Amino acid sequence: MALHQGSLAILENNVGVSDAVLLDPVSEDAFIENLKLRYQHNQIYTYIGTVVVSVNPYKTTPLYTPSIIEEYRSRNIYELPPHIYAITDEAYRSMRDRHLDQCIIISGESGAGKTEASKVIMQYVAEVSGKGENIDTVKEQLLQSNPVLEAFGNAKTNKNDNSSRFGKYMDIEFDFKGDPIGGVITNYLLEKSRVAVQMAGERNFHIFYQLLQGAKLSTLESLKLTREINDYNILKSSGSGDVATMNDQENFDTVMHGMEVIGFTSDEVTSLFQLIGSILKLGNIEFSHRSNDDGTDGCDLSNTSALDDAAALLGCSSANLSLALTQRSVEVRGEKVKRDLSVNDGMYARDALCKALYSRMFSWLVARINDSIKVTSGSRTEVMGVLDIYGFEVFEQNSFEQFIINYCNEKLQQIFIELTLKEEQEEYIKEGIEWIHIEYFNNSVICDLIEKSNVGILALLDEECLRPGNATDLTFLEKLNQACQNHPHYESKALKKCQNDKTLSHGTFRLKHYAGNVTYKVDGFLDKNNDLLFRHLSQAMYQCKHCLMKGLFPEGNPSEKSLKRPATAGSQFKISVTELMKNLLSKNPNYIRCVKPNNLKAADNFDENLVRFQVRYLGLMENVRVKRAGYAFRQVYFQFLYRYKMLAGPTWPRWGGKPQEGVKILLEVQGVPQDEYAFGKTKLFIRNPKTLFDMEEKRRQHMHVLATKIQSVYKGWKQKTLYLLMRRSQIIISARFRGYWGQKVYKKTKSATLVLQCFARGWKARALLRKLKREKLEIESANVIRKHYLGWRVRKEYQPRFRRIAGPKISRFFVIALRKKFLLDLKAKLPSLSPIDPEWPACPRRFQAASDQLKVMYHAWRCRKYRRKFSEAEKYKMKEKLMASELFKDKKEGYAKTVPMPFKGDYQNLLANPKWKKLQSQMPQDSHIVFADVVQKIHRANGKAVEQLLVMSSQNLVLVEHHSMMVKYRIPITDISAMSVSPHPDKIIVFHVQKHENGDGSCKKGDFVFVCEHTIELVSKACLVIKNIKDTLPEIHIAPLLKAQFGKSEVQLSFKNGLTENLPGGVKVVRKKHTMDILYNSPTQQSSSGS
Ligand SMILES: Nc1ncnc2c1ncn2[C@@H]1O[C@H](COP(=O)(O)OP(=O)(O)OP(=O)(O)O)[C@@H](O)[C@H]1O
Ligand SMILES: [Mg+2]
Repeated sequence: MALHQGSLAILENNVGVSDAVLLDPVSEDAFIENLKLRYQHNQIYTYIGTVVVSVNPYKTTPLYTPSIIEEYRSRNIYELPPHIYAITDEAYRSMRDRHLDQCIIISGESGAGKTEASKVIMQYVAEVSGKGENIDTVKEQLLQSNPVLEAFGNAKTNKNDNSSRFGKYMDIEFDFKGDPIGGVITNYLLEKSRVAVQMAGERNFHIFYQLLQGAKLSTLESLKLTREINDYNILKSSGSGDVATMNDQENFDTVMHGMEVIGFTSDEVTSLFQLIGSILKLGNIEFSHRSNDDGTDGCDLSNTSALDDAAALLGCSSANLSLALTQRSVEVRGEKVKRDLSVNDGMYARDALCKALYSRMFSWLVARINDSIKVTSGSRTEVMGVLDIYGFEVFEQNSFEQFIINYCNEKLQQIFIELTLKEEQEEYIKEGIEWIHIEYFNNSVICDLIEKSNVGILALLDEECLRPGNATDLTFLEKLNQACQNHPHYESKALKKCQNDKTLSHGTFRLKHYAGNVTYKVDGFLDKNNDLLFRHLSQAMYQCKHCLMKGLFPEGNPSEKSLKRPATAGSQFKISVTELMKNLLSKNPNYIRCVKPNNLKAADNFDENLVRFQVRYLGLMENVRVKRAGYAFRQVYFQFLYRYKMLAGPTWPRWGGKPQEGVKILLEVQGVPQDEYAFGKTKLFIRNPKTLFDMEEKRRQHMHVLATKIQSVYKGWKQKTLYLLMRRSQIIISARFRGYWGQKVYKKTKSATLVLQCFARGWKARALLRKLKREKLEIESANVIRKHYLGWRVRKEYQPRFRRIAGPKISRFFVIALRKKFLLDLKAKLPSLSPIDPEWPACPRRFQAASDQLKVMYHAWRCRKYRRKFSEAEKYKMKEKLMASELFKDKKEGYAKTVPMPFKGDYQNLLANPKWKKLQSQMPQDSHIVFADVVQKIHRANGKAVEQLLVMSSQNLVLVEHHSMMVKYRIPITDISAMSVSPHPDKIIVFHVQKHENGDGSCKKGDFVFVCEHTIELVSKACLVIKNIKDTLPEIHIAPLLKAQFGKSEVQLSFKNGLTENLPGGVKVVRKKHTMDILYNSPTQQSSSGS
């Protein structure tokens, strides 16, 4: 067992054995000697297994410093000297780590140190649990609930200066991290009789003294109180105002601070103090006897100032309060009758009111604290319950309260026995572990005596309370004596077996409790069990203006008609104790067994007899024996294997076989000696705690290795998770992106499609519209046409009858008539059919254009008509004229003169000439004479003119000697390639003759130059003849300078006007070397117009 240096010096140098299981020999003496030894060395805690036995040192010990708390923090229970811290730590860790709700049951007789132990537990829990603003507030509130509750619920008794006069069970609630988050306090039956009266040497509840001693004068004045304790009947009666171990002044400050921390408002505090003040004042009310006229007793209040003060504090009128205390309403045959109370009844009513006021105020206080410390979050909580209930009590006079308190202690002992002695031994047998039964006293028989339904003392008490008729405490005792006479734990003077017992007096009964015999005085049992307050008192209180009264006396509500009798105090307590037991059994129990070393409340005083007595009734020796014979630790195989599986290769990380086999392997691997453990049917039993601690230590060490492994796995997992997360995220992102993109594309496509669709639809619609429009137009057109047509038809039909169209018609008629007249006039005045007739009748101006056109048309018509009258010969002559026109019009001077003159052709009348006839017979091909006239042939060499007859037949051009009729030249007409004339009025004509290769023929001398009277006719006819034969016209040169080929030389013919001589032909030719000048006489110019 490790002992610690420094701060734990007080725990060093272990004295005796710290665990009584290790005692040798195991005897009561050795046990007590060990306790004494340790006590003497201030080692007040000793284990029996995991049960802590605590001996009250009655002095301050340095066992509760922060450094010691630190030492015990997260350490195994046997590692350090025994301490409440160790068991609390075990419970706390088990709750936090294994999620097992815990309860710490503190038992022991009054003054053994239960309340102090509970404070130590809370101090440790507050210290080791987490820190934080909210958590600290909760912790402070939980811690501060102690002084507040102690002030109101504790009192000095002859056993204990700070005796708890109520039972307290506090559930501290933790979150999953093990941080306190709130709590619930359950209070059990307050010893309220103390409010009215206390035993000699005892005090009322601390708060009365604290208020009077600690409050400011101003506060007291406002409460109409004085500092003097002896001013108050309910405080001075016991005659023990001051307690040496207590400083009421300081404690008052502590209470005030506590209430502030818990969250009491100043109004609430004032309300509480007003109630305290009113109780003090009510206690001072005294009654004086009054004999009524009807012979009944009545009473009057003799101390009206106390009454007034009490009424003022409660917020009611003095008169009402006075009436409530001196009268009561009774129902007589259905009628409510006021009946005066006697002095005793008045005092009874007064005390009952004080007690009710105080006990209800106390319950309100607990509820108010609970309201502040309750858990607000809905999350799952782990619970650690601390039970600090009033300890077993034996006074000189024991009443109903002691009966109830001791009954409660019996029940707690029952739990202890059940769980540590009975169940444990039964478990060994059940698990098949070899076991020698250890005898112990089972107090269930006493519990049954008290609580058994129908026959138990509580049931009989209730029965007597409810029984109609004259039931008194003595009739109850009689009933009890009758019912329990044979019970070994019941004694009474009336019973035969106790008749000689001088310690028993009449009106009492004795119960042989597990912790000793207690004689109870039945006086007041019925009354206290009934716990009834006169209804008129409740109603009076309900009507008070004090803010708490309506909540404290709900039954005083006049509208509350229920006349159902409330449950008796005894049965209420039984129910709440049963519930408490159920609650405790549902949690993992931890025990602190408090032992009181002496009855003197003195330090360093070890009364062995007193301790022996307690050791016996607490069953500690049986506990030691069971623990020693048994095994320190047991656990279900599966759980054990689960916790330590990492300590053996085969069981880590998973064991596939049966858990028991796995455990076996585990223990073998760990080298645990075989006598150190035993295998039960379902559980493993380990004898020595050290074995378990060794395992725990190895586990702890192994945990580091595992932690590293877990860390690496975790890191890997984390990275993998991160990777997977990133991958997932990436997939999600890309999916989202793709989705988004797809959506975008889809939207785009959709909108494009829509656009296309729109266009297509639009196009279709437009086409349709066009079609429809067209159809409409067509219909409209048809309608219009039809309309017009109809209109037209109608107009046509009816128009002639319209006056308005007569004008145009008439004017048109006139126009037509004028035209007609114009045409008829024209017809009458038409000029002659001669094409050369220039006459044309005049016409009105409006027909000028028509007249001009008609003139042209008429002229054309008359020309055509004229032409049609021509014979073939005339047509040919006309052709010749046309040819002449084409060739010479506007080209040759003198042409115009020739136009009207007909082309005679044969000017020499050759056909009548016999010489010609003769000659012609020689030239039959020249029979058809086209032209014949006498011409001047210009000699090529000298230019002299020789008269010759030129005959042009349809084949040849023949030059004949005029007189001899001898042919000089006979030139085929086709040999004439060209003809040249001047533009002047000379009569020169040049026949250009085609040259032959051999130079033969008539043309070898060159071109012929003639002077001919009918030049124009000759050329025109020659052209037509040549065209007839060659189908082409010969060349016609009309130029002022002509060329002629004479033999081999070319001669230029130039013309000059100015011939003065009268020469045949009217020309004079002067032959020069290369030229031939021709002088001619220009006659008067003639107009060339006409055709
Ligand atoms: N561990 C302790 N150290 C010092 N003094 C102690 C210790 N335990 C108890 N005492 C002293 O003993 C007195 C009585 O203790 P406590 O009030 O806890 O008894 P109790 O078991 O609660 O009694 P009751 O049943 O009457 O309430 C305390 O006021 C205190 O003076
Ligand atoms: Mg106590």
